[in-house]
Amino acid sequence: MTSGVGAPTRASISARTLRTDRWWLPPLLTNLGLFAFVAYATVRSFMGKWYWIEDYGYLTPFYSPCLSESCLPGSSHFGTPLPELPGWIPLGFVALPFLLGFRLTCYYYRKAYYRSVWQSPPACAVAEPHASYSGETRLPLIVQNAHRYFFYVALLVSVVNTYDAVVALTHGLGVGNLVLLTNVVLLWAYTLSCHSCRHIAGGRLKHFSKHPVRYRAWTFVSKLNVHHMRLAWTTLGTLVLTDLYVMLVASGAISDLRIF
Ligand code: FES
Repeated sequence: MTSGVGAPTRASISARTLRTDRWWLPPLLTNLGLFAFVAYATVRSFMGKWYWIEDYGYLTPFYSPCLSESCLPGSSHFGTPLPELPGWIPLGFVALPFLLGFRLTCYYYRKAYYRSVWQSPPACAVAEPHASYSGETRLPLIVQNAHRYFFYVALLVSVVNTYDAVVALTHGLGVGNLVLLTNVVLLWAYTLSCHSCRHIAGGRLKHFSKHPVRYRAWTFVSKLNVHHMRLAWTTLGTLVLTDLYVMLVASGAISDLRIF
């Protein structure tokens, strides 16, 4: 091993770590959380049903925007420019790759899965299993540098999700509307708290005093940015809960409680 703890200039310690605490617990929990989300999202994205409730205008974010002729009547808020799709293509396939890219290249999620999935390293003072380190300088990890472009698309998708939630309000008000709106507000908070967004708002400036609008935007984003990790996990949860709620109501397993 030529780098890391195995480098010739480092002390020769055969044990992987001398830590005696439960250092493995955070990476394990991260793995379980990420795996649970990916499993749920994959199953739901390919299910192809129970994603739209015509009476209440509820559309799950996993199928938005729904742009093909395979989409249920009424669920295509932006028309159906695409033909019928075979069953192995998720109906939300237009946005899903970008949202996946946005999360995968997110600075927080990188930290999370570099530690938990790739164990690089899994915790402080715990040796990593890899013999060499090339950082994010070559494929596939060089794609991490495209995060800001995924951010731009994620902004558009947040607008689309907001539109879906507002359209649902034209059908009246039920618990489902509150679920959709909560999800949208948190998605905006997560998206705007992005490190790239913070840089876009206030980066490359020499004098904040000469750019008061960008300074205000940067200050606002910075306050959100402090909570980025929490928002990253919270929005995974709200995405699942929103989709689950729509699925349960659409399948008839539960009824939507109507307020008016
Ligand atoms: Fe996490 Fe941009 S850094 S979404």
